[in-house]
Parts: sequence; C-alpha cells; structure tokens
Amino acid sequence: MELRKSIQKFLGGYPGGWQQYARGRTPIEDRPWVQPANLDDRRSVIPPLGLREYWYPAVPQKDIGWKKPVGLRLLGTDVVLFRDEQGAVQALLDVCPHRGVALSWGDCFWKGFVSCPYHGGTFDGNGECVAFITEGPDSKMVGRLSARKFPTRTIKGIVFIWMGDEAPSPIEEDIPAEFFEGEQTVILNTVRYWNCNWMVALENTADAHNCFWVHRDSLFMLRSRFGGRPRTPLGYRSKIVNGRSAITFDYNTTAYYKKDGKLDYRMYYPGVKGHWPLHGWRLFWVWFFEWLEKRNAGKPRFETPEEWAMGTHLPSQQRIYSGSGGTGSMYTRVCIPVEENLTRVFYYRSRRVPTAAGRFYERLAFNLWRNFISHYNFSDQDYDAMRTVRYDMPEYLSATDSHLITQRRLITQHARGLKRAVPVQDETSSERLVIEGHGLLGVKVAIDGSGTSLSPDDKGAVIGLAGGLLGPPQSME
Ligand code: FES
Ligand SMILES: [Fe+2]
Repeated sequence: MELRKSIQKFLGGYPGGWQQYARGRTPIEDRPWVQPANLDDRRSVIPPLGLREYWYPAVPQKDIGWKKPVGLRLLGTDVVLFRDEQGAVQALLDVCPHRGVALSWGDCFWKGFVSCPYHGGTFDGNGECVAFITEGPDSKMVGRLSARKFPTRTIKGIVFIWMGDEAPSPIEEDIPAEFFEGEQTVILNTVRYWNCNWMVALENTADAHNCFWVHRDSLFMLRSRFGGRPRTPLGYRSKIVNGRSAITFDYNTTAYYKKDGKLDYRMYYPGVKGHWPLHGWRLFWVWFFEWLEKRNAGKPRFETPEEWAMGTHLPSQQRIYSGSGGTGSMYTRVCIPVEENLTRVFYYRSRRVPTAAGRFYERLAFNLWRNFISHYNFSDQDYDAMRTVRYDMPEYLSATDSHLITQRRLITQHARGLKRAVPVQDETSSERLVIEGHGLLGVKVAIDGSGTSLSPDDKGAVIGLAGGLLGPPQSME
C-alpha cells in the first residue's frame, strides 16, 4: 500500500499518474451538494439532511460499552451514546450544555453516567446533570443543567433513535415488521459509509435495470446466466401503502424480450452495431449454479406485511427479496443522512430460521461470505456508479424510472414533518417523461389524482404489456 502511494506520489500524486491528470479528472469528492430549486422538481422539497420525525438505526447494542461513550452523527446532528444505570443505551445531544464540548470525548467513570471531558459535568440517561465534579459536591449546576435527550429503543440488538422534535411516533411504523418477531427471526446487520446524499443512495431502489450493467461482474451476478438482465424496457408498477411505503408489483420480468418463448443470452443493439453482454465466459460455469438453485425452486419468498414488501419505506429504507430464487430472506438498506454529501448505509439481512443450529449457520455464513457478497461486492457497485449523480441538473427519465417518481411522491406527499401540500407542480416534467416513456412502448400509465399510485389505467394497457404476461413480483437478481 505504502509502495503504491509512493509510486503515485512520484508520478504526480494523482490516481493514474500525471498523464491521467493531464487528461483531466473530475474531483467528485469535493463537489458541494446542490439542491435543485425548481417548482417543477419534487427533489427540491426533500430535505438534504433527511426526514427528522422518524426512528433510525443507530448502532448495534454490542458496540456500546460501559466505560467509553460513542459519538455518532445522524441527520447533521451529533449524538452521544452510552449506557444508563439499567444498562439501556441512551442518546444525548453530543454538546455539553455548559460550554459546548463534545460529551463523546468524555468518559463514563461511574456506571451509568457520562462525564464531560472539560469540567466534569456528569449526566444520567435522561440528560440531567447529576454531578459537576470541578465545582465540588455542592455545585448548583446539579438539577439545573440538562442535555437534550433523544429517545432510544433497542430491538434485536440494534439501538434505534428518534431524531424528531415532536413526541416519538410508534416505532412499529418505522422499522421492519420482522423486528417484532421471536428468536426464530434472525436479523443480521452491517454498515457502510457512502460519499453521496441520502436521496441518491435511496433512489437506487428498485432500479432493477442497473443490475444488468452495474453488477455485471459482481460475484452474485457472475453465477447467473442473465446477470440481472431486464426482461422489459418498462419499469415497475408501484403503489403507496398506508402512506408509509411505495411497494413494487407487476414487474414483467419474463415476456418482453423473449423470442419464440426463449430469452437469448445476448441482445443486439443496432445503434452500436454490437451485442451485450460482450462475451459469454459465464456460460462455462452458470450451469453449476443453475443446478444448485433448482433445489430452491418453488420455495416461498420472505413473508412480510404488504407495507413492508419490496420497495421503499419511509423514512429511507429499501427492501428487496433476496436469496437464491427468492428463498426466504429480505435485504433492507437504510440510507441514513449524515451530512449533505455523506450517507450511512445500514443493512439488515432478515431470515426466519426455526432451529438453533440453523441460526448458528446463518450467522456464520453471514460473517464468512454473505455480508461480503451482498453488501460489499454487490451493493458497493451501486455506490461506485451513482456517487456522481447530480441533483442540480435537469434529468430525463425513462419508463424504467417509474418507481423513482412514486417514491418521490411518497416522500413529498406523505412524509411526517413535511407539509403535505408541497409547493411543486401537480405533475412534474420527470413524471410526464415516465408516462411518455411507457406510452412509446404501448403502455398507458397514470398517476392518480391523489398522487398515490402509478398504475396501468385500463386492462388494455396491461395486455399491451407484451401479451399481458405480468409476472409476480420478482427479486432483483
Ligand atoms: S463544557 Fe462540559 S462541563 Fe464544561
Ligand atoms: Fe444496483
């Protein structure tokens, strides 16, 4: 690593060396986040630092010890996490109310209390000052000084935090339903940091068509014959459920590009006079994985209430059925705003496993390879591709972006803490482009008057969709 850095420095300090630099390089990491300011664009009313009146995952409980508090930034706000006298993880604003020092730089010298590193202001789990060490036992700061507290709940080993200014809403509305199931339901987690805005990370949701391109060389896709290939140039139908999620359905994965009932391995693109994929190396080994997956054929998907099905759930969660052939696990990505250009990506992998031995294996497999394959090798490819997305430029959407516009409606019309009557046009240019995109493919879609759904507006439209063969919702594999 050091050698590589030295060589790079010698060559000019730029990735690729001076020659690359001379050709030009986009300093993507340095670009400030720019929000559109345009009444024709729903993105202009979505807060760059996120939706505050919600529960978010903070940390796994095991990361919080008794001796050292932990600092964490969420939604542009710094919090300090520590254990109270009962051992429950509590969160306070990470700003000492005395003179503003970060409490997370302090210590928990006495079990259950956090002490400020500057003058020893010491706070309990409710944020009340219980001792002010440097002023002695008679300090009158005790009982008068208090730090802001953020409500927390620990469920299945994960500490959730309420970031709102209002009284907390029921946590059941904000975190996946399986968190409230018994020990048979295993929820494993991991965290990544991405240098992009939380909406960019979230808008990767149900963008099924990037799979065929972005993930072409992921370990996940290399074992699949069609490698996430879209079976249609049309997007998902999605609908808003309970004002809290936009779920996807009626995604036609089987019909559109079939010829004589068969899907070719490669497709010809006349504009470039060429095929994609470029070559067929994977055909040497995919037969083996297809043989393995036959064992999973017909196994049910991960069952979940409609509101928590595949799609987007407020405040910033994406859900996808996962596992070979959709065999009973659920992938959830929570995009937690940290700063305008930084997102904390918290993943859950949920699966119901009836036996203790099975649960042991589930944890082992997660730690040895599943976490890597799914959340690092596969999902970080999305990050690499989308981190340069710009919100300050006009976009030109296609039919495949149908879920995107439903998701933006979900946020701008239903999110807590946002005004419901948003000051944007009823139907934006982006929405019109998606509708037109479908129209060009012979499919009518509409966003209904209340803006709660995007759906085919008549039977004919459904039939127009390549013979009406609308398949059941599929996983994004
Ligand atoms: S700044 Fe925290 S005790 Fe003084
Ligand atoms: Fe992707």
